[in-house]
Amino acid sequence: MTASKPDHYRDLAAQLAALLASETDRIANAANMAAVIYHGLPDLNWCGFYFRRGAELVLGPFQGKPACVRIPIGRGVCGTAAARAATVLVHDVHDFPGHIACDPVSRSELVVPLIEAGRVSGVLDLDSPLPGRFDQRDQAGCERLVALFVDHHGR
Ligand code: SME
Repeated sequence: MTASKPDHYRDLAAQLAALLASETDRIANAANMAAVIYHGLPDLNWCGFYFRRGAELVLGPFQGKPACVRIPIGRGVCGTAAARAATVLVHDVHDFPGHIACDPVSRSELVVPLIEAGRVSGVLDLDSPLPGRFDQRDQAGCERLVALFVDHHGR
């Protein structure tokens, strides 16, 4: 990344806003959002969505290797973010009890919940092969991207 992280996230937000503006289909927009992030940020090995179906999260559009399909709310990093309705930033997944290793190469993870009409409708998950890949600027940047998606698709 040559620009500063906040500048880079501002560019990604502009790209995402342009994509969202021309389309209303939630799955299509989630797919393009995963692609914008995966190809727009360095050092990721997976980026995508899980959507809530009852007491589980079910795999949605993503970029990267095939992943676990169903995650109970409260399990793993994704299920923990969904249960807490709060972002979870994991410096080293080896230190996170209950981490679900879809790809053993993943070493750090950032999961942002999608909160619509006061309830968690899913999560955005980013994985990196580098320990400590994500910091507070990544958290703020990804929370902003998720807010654009949620605002577009109705709270
Ligand atoms: N590691 C996640 C599971 C999803 S994959 O990383 C794509 C977790 O612990 O919830």
